[in-house]
Amino acid sequence: MGITRELEIANRTLLIEEHENITDPLTGKEAAGCWTWDCSMVLAYYLTTPNWPPSSFYAKTVIELGAGTGVPGLTAALLGANVILTDLPPLLPGLQKNVDKNDLRDKVIVKELIWGEDCSFSDLGLSQPVDYVLMSDLLYDVNSMPALCKTLKHISDGHTQILLAYELRYGTTECFKALKERGFRWAKVAQEDLDPEWQSEDIAGAVNGYP
Ligand SMILES: C[S@@+](CC[C@H](N)C(=O)[O-])C[C@H]1O[C@@H](n2cnc3c(N)ncnc32)[C@H](O)[C@@H]1O
Repeated sequence: MGITRELEIANRTLLIEEHENITDPLTGKEAAGCWTWDCSMVLAYYLTTPNWPPSSFYAKTVIELGAGTGVPGLTAALLGANVILTDLPPLLPGLQKNVDKNDLRDKVIVKELIWGEDCSFSDLGLSQPVDYVLMSDLLYDVNSMPALCKTLKHISDGHTQILLAYELRYGTTECFKALKERGFRWAKVAQEDLDPEWQSEDIAGAVNGYP
């Protein structure tokens, strides 16, 4: 059993279990999604600041890509959204556990979504493009960007907003370049608009429109 963290967020205590001994099928190494990365705390707490949302999350459809332990997506559910948490297959039982631990089964579903692979809207439990996409700490491997962009274009349309938090790592600049080449544009969230506690010089947030 992994460590369970208790996060005070959106007027609730969110229970998040982290996992051990899960192998990433793409790398053969321990899965990075076993742990809650700082980016996901920064993104989740940003969603609860007065600077966000510009309109409410209530009844909006939100999908989190590469959700790991699911902190931003679960926070969006606490704020009223209908949420789809997605990741690689080995991460899904852990994600479901975190949904169950927080009694969010009526607001959150967990689905496999491997970037770049074909999947229908109904496979994802969707009837139309989503209102919001959440992405936390996914911009580190430039080789995965074509597949990630393909998925983003599939699940989005002109009204979709993508919110992402990234930590500057080796490869992050190249990832943004790859997003730009595929037509994505973004605006960086001002550091002072992030949660006063959950922010760092190394981590930034961006809001993005569909290309
Ligand atoms: C650094 S972890 C971030 C996890 C979580 N978003 C967080 O910030 O705590 C990267 C996540 O992306 C997922 N991921 C990596 N490549 C993927 C792919 N090709 N398709 C789907 N998910 C992928 C991993 O399984 C992992 O959960």
